[in-house]
Amino acid sequence: MPDYVGAIDQGTSSSRFIIFDTDGNIVQVGQREHRQIHPRSGWVEHDPLEITMRVREVIGDALAASIVRPSDIKAIGITNQRETTVLWDRRTGRPVYNAIVWQDTRTSAIVAELGGSEGPDRIRHICGLPLSTYFSGPKAKWILDNVDGVRARAEAGDILFGTMDTYTIWNLTGGPNGGVHVTDVTNASRTMLMDLRTLDWSDEVLELMGLPRAMLPEIRSSSEVYGNVHGTVLEGVPVSGVLGDQQAALFGQACFEPGTAKNTYGTGSFLLVNTGNEPVPSQKLLTTVGYKIGDQPAVYALEGAIAVTGAGVQWLRDQLGIIRTAPDSEALAASVEDTGDVYFVPAFSGLFAPYWRDDARGVIVGLTAFSNKAHITRAVLEATAWQSREVVDAANEAAEAPFKELKVDGGMVNNELLMQFQSDVLGVPTIRPKVSETTALGAAYAAGIAVGVWAGTDDVTRNWGEDKRWEPKMDSGDVEARYARWKEAVQRTLGWIR
Ligand code: G3P
Repeated sequence: MPDYVGAIDQGTSSSRFIIFDTDGNIVQVGQREHRQIHPRSGWVEHDPLEITMRVREVIGDALAASIVRPSDIKAIGITNQRETTVLWDRRTGRPVYNAIVWQDTRTSAIVAELGGSEGPDRIRHICGLPLSTYFSGPKAKWILDNVDGVRARAEAGDILFGTMDTYTIWNLTGGPNGGVHVTDVTNASRTMLMDLRTLDWSDEVLELMGLPRAMLPEIRSSSEVYGNVHGTVLEGVPVSGVLGDQQAALFGQACFEPGTAKNTYGTGSFLLVNTGNEPVPSQKLLTTVGYKIGDQPAVYALEGAIAVTGAGVQWLRDQLGIIRTAPDSEALAASVEDTGDVYFVPAFSGLFAPYWRDDARGVIVGLTAFSNKAHITRAVLEATAWQSREVVDAANEAAEAPFKELKVDGGMVNNELLMQFQSDVLGVPTIRPKVSETTALGAAYAAGIAVGVWAGTDDVTRNWGEDKRWEPKMDSGDVEARYARWKEAVQRTLGWIR
């Protein structure tokens, strides 16, 4: 039997297990959703025990549906929703609180307090990130501050901290006493707790946030053997790749050269540009680790995280009822020439990159009696492209090397109208790969490289293939005029929350 590699993608709305062959093609997929828990407005939680169950189920589902035997799987990679935070008891494995999800904004007061008079950039020189409710450190602090007895137990060394990669590996490699307690550099770079240069936890930040070092996992590379599966049908298979989901997509899209970039269009969008072996500072974007293969030096990236893109289309469907399914947005938007000067800025819970403003709220501006649902739908799709343009501009400014093309993936890349418009407003081609599951694929490659299924990144580049490319067509004067209008619309969202 040929070799296969499996990838667990523990995402925000579901968990999946995908089996890949050595050409990087999908052989089988298992997928199950988990509950989104909203105890209060702005709070988003997941039940970690439910997620552990789903992960086991999807592994079973995929294997049951395919001819691949567990013994044909040579390695397992893990990729995950980043920043989402769990604290659990080292001895019982029981979480002390639900996982606090990356979208959760309950830590806004903690974040403001941590910034003090220096503001959100106080620790950016260490971790590459602005103080924001988005990242894990403040979420962990919230649990220690608010769940009875947990701080004392953490100080006594009884509590473990993890992002979803860490929690998943601990469970997957665990016997009765739990498994290995590790994370990789990419996930660690989203906690705010890691020093980007030393790739170790920063004592200065830990002290600022009041987090005991004893609860933190060991930081490892993205491609090495962390441990072996214990207690499931995959007993004994090495777990040997870990990448946060957006970094995994960068890896799966073979963006290995400085200046290469990908944009993943999901609920939100995440555009990452490879910046080589040096972290590049930016006021507008996140400086983050792209990947690190074993003992090789880390590769860094600049990231533009956009909170709402696909979620804007869902909003049209679920809240306004303008469309029946998300793909319907394409035909409706295509039924009009343009938006009729209508702009939609989906600042539903503030704006992420490049603004980082919690006080922004959404607007639809430019309405006249002529405007109809097609104009609004088109404005929603165009907002996705404009937000990406803002991120690209910021990346070009910071990296001083404008990139020449954008590889795209995620659910919205099937929307051809959007992909064409994206290429138009960026002035560079957008390229969709043959295997669109780049996130899971990236984690599988990292895992397979560690055990010799693939020799290295050259094999990834060789396997990568283009499915479709959109070249810019729109007149650049027209693009810039509309872009200026978009920016005016953004200004109208800022400061709405006082
Ligand atoms: O930073 C959040 C990002 O990792 C979200 O991932 O695709 O699970 O929504 P996704």
